[in-house]
Amino acid sequence: MADQRVLFVDQSGQMGGAQLSLLDIARHRRHDSAVLLLDDGPFRARLAEQGVPVSVEAGGAVGGLRQRGIGAGTLRGLLALPSLVRRVARRAARADVVYANTQKAMAVCVLGKWLHRRPVVWHLRDIVDASFFGRAQRLAIRWLSRGLTRVIANSQASADAFRALAGNAVAVDVVHNGIDPAPFDAALQRDRMALRVANGLPAGGLVVGLFSRLTPWKGQHVLMEAVSRTPGATLVLVGAALFGEDAYEAALRARAAQPDLAGRVHFLGFRADVAELMYCMDIVVHASVCAEPFGRVVVEGMLAARPVVATAAGGVTEIVEDGETGILVPPGDAGALAAALARLADAGVRENMGAHAREAAMRRFSPLAMLAAVDGIVAQVARVPPDVAAGQPRRAP
Ligand code: UDP
Ligand code: GLC
Repeated sequence: MADQRVLFVDQSGQMGGAQLSLLDIARHRRHDSAVLLLDDGPFRARLAEQGVPVSVEAGGAVGGLRQRGIGAGTLRGLLALPSLVRRVARRAARADVVYANTQKAMAVCVLGKWLHRRPVVWHLRDIVDASFFGRAQRLAIRWLSRGLTRVIANSQASADAFRALAGNAVAVDVVHNGIDPAPFDAALQRDRMALRVANGLPAGGLVVGLFSRLTPWKGQHVLMEAVSRTPGATLVLVGAALFGEDAYEAALRARAAQPDLAGRVHFLGFRADVAELMYCMDIVVHASVCAEPFGRVVVEGMLAARPVVATAAGGVTEIVEDGETGILVPPGDAGALAAALARLADAGVRENMGAHAREAAMRRFSPLAMLAAVDGIVAQVARVPPDVAAGQPRRAP
C-alpha cells in the first residue's frame, strides 16, 4: 500500500512507452498521488479513465527545447522556463515526493527545488549518451543531476550511461518495466487467423510485425529492407509518428510503394489492441538502430508467445536470451535481420521459441515486482511533512 503523496511529472501528453509505464505506476498510487503533464494530449484522458488525478501545466515554448543542438526554439524555451518552474513548484510543494518521468520534467522539478523543497526522483528512461543527446544537453543533465535524490533507471544500460555522465553521487536503482500479462492471456484465447482477417492481413505467408512509434531510430526502414529480401513475407507497422516525425513516415510510405514491396506493407497507425495484434503475427521484430533504453515491445512480443527478433544493444540485451527466448541481431543490419527471419521460417521453431519467451517474460517482468520496487524507493526518499504527521487528512497533491 502506498503511503506517500507523490506528484508524478511528465513532459508529454502522447502515449509513448515512458507514459504507458507511468500509467501503471500512477494507477497503482492513484489514491494519494497525482500526475502533472507539461503538455496536453491523449495521455491525459487515459490517466483520467483509470481514476488517476491528472492536470496539465502547459510548458508552452519549453516544449521547443530539443535533445540535440541549439535551434530557433532554444532561447524562447529557456525564457519560458522560469514561469513553468514556479508553477510546477507550487504543486510540488504539496507532495511528499516529486517524481519526474522524463528529462524535461526532471529539469523543471530540479530547478524548482529551492521553492518546493521536496526530494526529486528521476525515473530515467533514456540512454543519456552522445547518440541521443547533444553536448549542451548532456552537460545540463550532469549539472541538474546534483539536485536529484534518487534515480530509478529502466535498465542497467540506462543506469550505466547515467553513471558515465553524472558519476556516483546519486544512488541509482535499476527497475525493469513490468508488463501486465492480462491482455496477452486474453489474446492467446483468440483465433489467430480470424484476428488476421479482421485486421486486413493475409492468412498465409510469413507475417512480421513491428510495434513502435515511427521515428528513424526505431529502424522501420531497416526492417523494410529485410522484408524486401524475404520472399512472400508481409510487414505490419503498428504505431504512429508521435513526436512530429511526419517526413520519416512519408519516406516509409514511399519506400513501401516501390514494386518489390508494393502490397506487402501494412500501416496500422497507433493501436490500443497491441496484445491481440502481436498474437496474430508470426514474428515480432524490434529494429532500433540505437541502443534501446529498455524496449517494452520486446517483453510484450514475448508475452504474446511470439519469437522476437531484436537488436542487440541497450536494455534489450537484458531481456532476450539469444537463441532461447528470441534472436538478437546487430542494430542497423538488414542482412542480419533477413537471416533471422529465415531462421524462423519453420512454424515449429517459432512455436518453441515463443513458448520459452512467454515463460521468461511472465517470470521476469512482473508488474507487481516493479510496483513494489518503486513503492520501496519512494518510501525511502519521502519526508513526512508536519501536517501528515499530525494526522490531518491527505489529499492528492
Ligand atoms: N504501442 C501502442 N500502440 C501502438 C504502438 C506501440 O500502445 O500502436 C505501445 C507498445 O505496446 C509499448 C509502447 O507503445 O508498450 C512502446 O514502448 P517501448 O518501450 O517499446 O518504446 P518507446 O516508444 O517508449 O521508446
Ligand atoms: C522510453 C524508452 C523505452 C522504454 C520506455 C519505458 O520510452 O525509449 O526503451 O522501454 O521508456 O521505460
